[in-house]
Amino acid sequence: MALTVQGLNKAYGSNQVIKDFDFQIDPGEIVILLGESGTGKTTFMRLINNLEEADRGTIQINGNYLCQDNGKVAAYKNKREQRTYQNSLGMVFQDYQLFPNFTVLENLLEAPLAQELGNKAELEQRAKTLLTRMGVEDKIDVYPSTLSGGQKQRVAIARALMLEPSVLCFDEPTSALDIDSANKVGQLIRELSDEGKAILIVTHDRAFGKEYGTRIISSEQFVNN
Ligand SMILES: Nc1ncnc2c1ncn2[C@@H]1O[C@H](COP(=O)(O)OP(=O)(O)OP(=O)(O)O)[C@@H](O)[C@H]1O
Ligand SMILES: [Mg+2]
Repeated sequence: MALTVQGLNKAYGSNQVIKDFDFQIDPGEIVILLGESGTGKTTFMRLINNLEEADRGTIQINGNYLCQDNGKVAAYKNKREQRTYQNSLGMVFQDYQLFPNFTVLENLLEAPLAQELGNKAELEQRAKTLLTRMGVEDKIDVYPSTLSGGQKQRVAIARALMLEPSVLCFDEPTSALDIDSANKVGQLIRELSDEGKAILIVTHDRAFGKEYGTRIISSEQFVNN
């Protein structure tokens, strides 16, 4: 398995959004998370991305823990362990969240350089290889504002892959794309899963989920196991 979530609980005041939820995703799976508005899909993504704190539960990827339930609360690990966990998980946001004042190359290099995960020449080579794979190598020195939506997404995917994550999450990857671009990103996601990545996708696009998902889950399960 890649990502394992056990006994996850999250409430906002009296609104229990996630209750005793267990979830696991294996390498090579493409899990589609569907569900009505307000049922906790974004909350779940934020929890596993460490953008939000769980009340109870354990979250880990391949034995690297973000938090571990101690019988009372989800006890969060120290910063170094949290960082190891986070490097195992890549996230492609709906609005891509590229840094506007950095070039495409600088966007890819920022996190691995800050964490000293390699020397600059090695990381630049890796960035070039990924941008070539994504078909945007000619955009390496431009700023994100000059890219189309599909190109921004490809840069965001390349940036997420710089840290060689085991798990890759997408929030609404097709909402801004025409049908051809959506199928291109679907094919790419399929290739990444064939290479052993575990993929989790939140989407309202049922046709896309049916075509590319290997398993479909509903956010109703967050409160009714
Ligand atoms: N920061 C917050 N503070 C208080 N309540 C919140 C917060 N974030 C989310 N919620 C509540 O948690 C519930 C789940 O919200 P969430 O955004 O996770 O839903 P969603 O499934 O992503 O919906 P959508 O499909 O509309 O994006 C909602 O009732 C929402 O009002
Ligand atoms: Mg949402």
